[in-house]
Amino acid sequence: MLLPTARLTTRRASKIASIRFFMGFISIPKRWSHIDAVHRNTKDNNPSVKFEFNDKNSQEVTKIIAKYPEQYKKAAIMPLLNLGQHQFGYCSIGVMNEVARILEVPPMRVYEVASFYTMFHRKPVGQVNVGICTNIACQLRGADDIYSNAKSYCKSEKNKDGFFSLEELECSGACANAPVAEINNIYYEDLDKDSIIKVLDDLRIGKAKPGPFGGKRVSCEPEGEKTSLFGKEAFDIRTVTRDDI
Ligand code: FES
Repeated sequence: MLLPTARLTTRRASKIASIRFFMGFISIPKRWSHIDAVHRNTKDNNPSVKFEFNDKNSQEVTKIIAKYPEQYKKAAIMPLLNLGQHQFGYCSIGVMNEVARILEVPPMRVYEVASFYTMFHRKPVGQVNVGICTNIACQLRGADDIYSNAKSYCKSEKNKDGFFSLEELECSGACANAPVAEINNIYYEDLDKDSIIKVLDDLRIGKAKPGPFGGKRVSCEPEGEKTSLFGKEAFDIRTVTRDDI
């Protein structure tokens, strides 16, 4: 006879086994993040490829570090990584190691930051880096189609020189103008699967116009009539509170 604990364990094990069995029939779409969890050495991106800030940026480094108390200069990790990325094109391991050396922190402290924030690119990117937000608000308004069209464009003949690189982004914080593409840190909004192609074509000739696409709005105001705070209150709070409040 099984003891109560043993019985419980056996029952739990069989429950887990049946969940695993049924999970085999469920297909969950795979979405590969562009974020690298680990660094892999390549010919151009390995610790022996050193990086140094140029003269102009070295002066900038001094100014940035001066903003923090001496004992907290490690707080300058992000601005220095940003500067390094602008100079080198991406945050190679050489850039990260140089930032760690300057700030006198273990390199791991810098790797942790660079691998957490998606705006730090740890691989080379194109001259124009296209980020398509596929988070919930954008996804509900067609971001998946936009991403797939942008992907086909970037793989096509039109991009054989690698001018564009593409990445998928989490919420870019511009949900009122979803779907959104963040391209070299500039936002292109209210897109659809055709307008993203137009934006990419225009970027190639340096004529793309940032902001909401299509001229229906200038910012994030409603596309139609204004409805909020006009006319009758949508919900009168006094109907559910005490009279004396
Ligand atoms: S979900 Fe795309 S900007 Fe927020």
